[in-house]
Amino acid sequence: MATLEIRDLHVTVEADNATKEILKGVDLTVKQGETHAIMGPNGSGKSTLAYSLAGHPKYTITEGTVLLDGEDVLAMSVDERARAGLFLAMQYPVEVPGVSVSNFLRSSATAIRGEAPKLRTWVKEVKETMERLHMDQSFAERNVNEGFSGGEKKRHEILQLELLKPKIAILDETDSGLDVDALRIVSEGVNRVRETGEVGTMLITHYTRILRYIKPDYVHVFSGGRIVESGGAELADKLEDEGYEAYTKGGASA
Ligand SMILES: Nc1ncnc2c1ncn2[C@@H]1O[C@H](COP(=O)(O)OP(=O)(O)OP(=O)(O)O)[C@@H](O)[C@H]1O
Ligand SMILES: [Mg+2]
Repeated sequence: MATLEIRDLHVTVEADNATKEILKGVDLTVKQGETHAIMGPNGSGKSTLAYSLAGHPKYTITEGTVLLDGEDVLAMSVDERARAGLFLAMQYPVEVPGVSVSNFLRSSATAIRGEAPKLRTWVKEVKETMERLHMDQSFAERNVNEGFSGGEKKRHEILQLELLKPKIAILDETDSGLDVDALRIVSEGVNRVRETGEVGTMLITHYTRILRYIKPDYVHVFSGGRIVESGGAELADKLEDEGYEAYTKGGASA
């Protein structure tokens, strides 16, 4: 079973000619097959964690380690991270002008598998996955994220997740801006991937709404650039009732 191990991760960004420490010692272990919900107030550093794992150049790792099956993720290029089995779905996904969804998916799958998927089975796989996500087939011919509505972006993420079958998936606010039906459809996609037992998921979210559909094995509270409490699914209910105040008092938040 693949394991992602984040140890004492410290990350800074350059903003207004100053260096600001955003992550202040994150510790987290995610194994294939497990679902972890990361919850926490605005600005606590959740997306920074996702970007840092993705290898975004704006974020400087100053301390700590990230290992995937013992391999040093931080030493890998962005492509190498994807090939090693890391999948990152961003809170604000980028547009890729001139590249259709269909081509994008196929070249991603080729990069990750090390060989191009066989065209006939691939086309069928894409078509069936899109149907399950209630996506119109014409969507495959559109340019990646160009003019996609919020909900379409999220479905596109789950389409990638289902087709690329990573070892560890990091989903940053996959639930934001989804209507009730889309939330259910997207959740079902995440659950299908989960049921394979082969994907470990880090689900960054603000709402326990999505956790009604996707039952996390673990819930972590993120505050002030680190994980300050961990528990089971019941912790999400407590957060819904009580908020984050207990964790942010005394300016502990970022
Ligand atoms: N590229 C950047 N330049 C300057 N500041 C940044 C940058 N990235 C993150 N920050 C700052 O780091 C802090 C954490 O931001 P981050 O986006 O990680 O929070 P978050 O927990 O994802 O919040 P939200 O719940 O609102 O999505 C914020 O104060 C933010 O302004
Ligand atoms: Mg965020």
